[in-house]
Amino acid sequence: MMNHIRNFSIIAHIDHGKSTLADRMIQLCDLVTAREFKDQLLDTMDIERERGITIKSQTICLPYTARDGNTYALNLVDTPGHVDFSYEVSRALASCEGALLLVDAAQGVEAQTLANLYLAMENDLVVIPVINKIDLPSAEPERVTFQIEEDLGLEADLIQMCSAKNGTGVAEILEAIVTHLPPPKGSIDAPLQARIFDATYDSYRGTVISCRIINGSVKQGDQIVLMSTGASHRVEEVGLFRLRKEPCKQLSAGEVGYILAGIKSVGDAKPGDTITLRDRPCAVPLAGFREVLPVVFSSLYPIAADDYEDLVAALEKLQLNDAALSFQKDSSAALGFGFRCGFLGLLHLEVVQERLEREFDISLILTVPSVRYRFTLTDQTEIMVDNPAHFPDPSKIARTEEPYIKASILIPERYMGAVMNLCMERRGENTNYHYPTPGRIEFTCELPLGEVIYDFYDRLKSITQGYGSFDYELLDYRSSDLVKLDILVNGEVVDALSQLVHRSNARERGLSACEQLKEEIPRQMFKIAIQAAIGTTIIARTNVSALRKDVTAKCYGGDITRKRKLLEKQKAGKKRMKTVGNVEIPQSAFLSVLKRD
Ligand code: GTP
Repeated sequence: MMNHIRNFSIIAHIDHGKSTLADRMIQLCDLVTAREFKDQLLDTMDIERERGITIKSQTICLPYTARDGNTYALNLVDTPGHVDFSYEVSRALASCEGALLLVDAAQGVEAQTLANLYLAMENDLVVIPVINKIDLPSAEPERVTFQIEEDLGLEADLIQMCSAKNGTGVAEILEAIVTHLPPPKGSIDAPLQARIFDATYDSYRGTVISCRIINGSVKQGDQIVLMSTGASHRVEEVGLFRLRKEPCKQLSAGEVGYILAGIKSVGDAKPGDTITLRDRPCAVPLAGFREVLPVVFSSLYPIAADDYEDLVAALEKLQLNDAALSFQKDSSAALGFGFRCGFLGLLHLEVVQERLEREFDISLILTVPSVRYRFTLTDQTEIMVDNPAHFPDPSKIARTEEPYIKASILIPERYMGAVMNLCMERRGENTNYHYPTPGRIEFTCELPLGEVIYDFYDRLKSITQGYGSFDYELLDYRSSDLVKLDILVNGEVVDALSQLVHRSNARERGLSACEQLKEEIPRQMFKIAIQAAIGTTIIARTNVSALRKDVTAKCYGGDITRKRKLLEKQKAGKKRMKTVGNVEIPQSAFLSVLKRD
C-alpha cells in the first residue's frame, strides 16, 4: 500500500544532531529494546563514531503506528554528512519524497544547511524544518525560526521544535512526516525501475545494494540489469532494512530496500544507476546518473617496506566498501613501493589514512595531495596529470589548466574582511556576497581546487573562530601557470615531497616546506641542507645544523632490561623514520609539509 509509505531523509549541517534524532525515532518506533539501544545506532564505523561524522549512509525502515490508527512504513534514507559526498547525498534525496531540514537552535543555518536544502529543492522534496537542541541554554528558537522563514523561504507553520537528546518533540516529528509528506507515486505494474543510492559490502553475501523502487517490482530469482554497464545478475534475496537486513518476498514501487545479487564489488553498483529487469526492461534509465570521479590524489607509502603486502590487502579491503577510493601502484626513489590513490576530497583522504593506520595497523607516509591537472602539449596531445612525478617536460607544454570550484562560505558579517583576504591569497576570482540573514553573509567565490585541498577549511575555521562554514561544487578547468617544486635534502631530490604549484606560490611554498622540514628533521652527526628548487634553480634554503655531542652515549650500559626497552623503543621510533640518502626523515616531516601556517 503506497499510501502507507513515507520516504524521507534528514538533512543537516555536521553536528546539528542528525544521528541523535534518527536514533530517537528508531527508539520511538519500538524497533529496539532499551537494552539494545546504543547511542548513535546509525553510525557504525569507529571513526564515524569518534569524529561524529556520518561517512557511509545506513537506511532503516520504521514501522510507525500513527494517531490515525494506521501503521506506516517510514523509510529513513540516511545521507553522508560531508561536502565530499554531495553526489551521494543527492542520489539519496532523489529516492525520497520529503526531507527533515534539521537546524541547531544555537547555531542556526549553516552553509551545508543551505547546500543540502538546494539539493532537496532540486529533487522537488517537501521540506519540514526541524529546530533541534531546544534544551540548550544558548538555544534561540525564535531567531532560527525567523531565519528559516525569511531566509530559506520555508513555511513557518511546518516548523517542528525538538530536543533529540531528551526526546522532546520527536513524537510530533513522526506525526508530521505522516501528515505533511506525500506518499510515493509510481506504478507496480510498470517495468522495474529502481534507483541505487548506496552499496555496501558484506563478506558473506557480496554487495548489498540499497535502492528505491520507483516503478515495478523485484523478487528473488529475477534477472536484473544495471543500466549504466548492462551487467546482468540473478537476484538472490530482497528485503527491508530493519536493525538488521530482513528478507521479504518482493520489493515494489514506492519501497526502499536492499537487493543481493552476487555482485562482487561495490564499484559495480554505482549510486544513481538504474536497475531494471532483463526480460522486461524499462524504456529509459532514471535521470541524474553520473560517475563519481576522484578529485584529490596522494601517494601512500608504508613506512616499513615489509608492510607493503599488508597495505595492498588493506586497500583492497577498504575498496570493497568504498567504491570512491581508487588506487594504483606507484613508486618513489625515496620511499620505495606504494600506491597512488584517488579520493573524493580531503576528508575522504583523512578517513582512509586513519582507517589504514588504526584498523590495519600500517604506518604510512602520504605525499602532498594534488588535484588533476590538464596539460596540452606542443604536439596538441592532451594529458591529465595528478602526480608530480608525471609532470611533463616544461618545454613541451603548450597549455596548462587546473580545476576550479565555486565555494560558498557562510560567515557572520564581522569576518568578511578576513575571509575575503584568505580567498584572494588563494587566487579567488569573481567574489560575490549577499545577506541571507541580517548580520550574516553568504560569500561566494571561484577558487582553484588545488588551493582548497591543503588547509583552506582549517584556516577558514580559525580566522572565523569556528563560525565560518563552507561548501563547494566543481566548476570547470581554467588556464593556469604551474611549476614542479622539488625539495632536496643534502642535494638529493626527495621525490615524495615534490608538488605541483602555481608559479606565484612557488617561493612561499618552497620556503615554508624548508622551514617545516627544518623543525621536523632531527639533528644528525653532520649538517643537512634543505633546499627548494624549480628545475635547476634553487628558490629557498635552510640548514639543520650538526649535533655537537653524542647524547645517546650515556644511555648504554647498566641494567639489561633497561637496555632492551631502550632498543625496542628505538626500533618503534625507527619504524616512523625513512632514510633518504644518508638522512633520516621522520614521518611527521612528510606530514608537516602538507600544513602551512
Ligand atoms: P554528522 O554525523 O556529522 O552529520 O553529525 P550529526 O548531525 O549526526 O550530529 P550528532 O547526532 O552526532 O550530534 C552532534 C552532537 O550534538 C552530539 O554531541 C549530540 O549529543 C549533540 N546533540 C544532538 N541533539 C541534541 C539535542 O537535542 N540537545 C543537545 N543539547 N545536544 C544534542
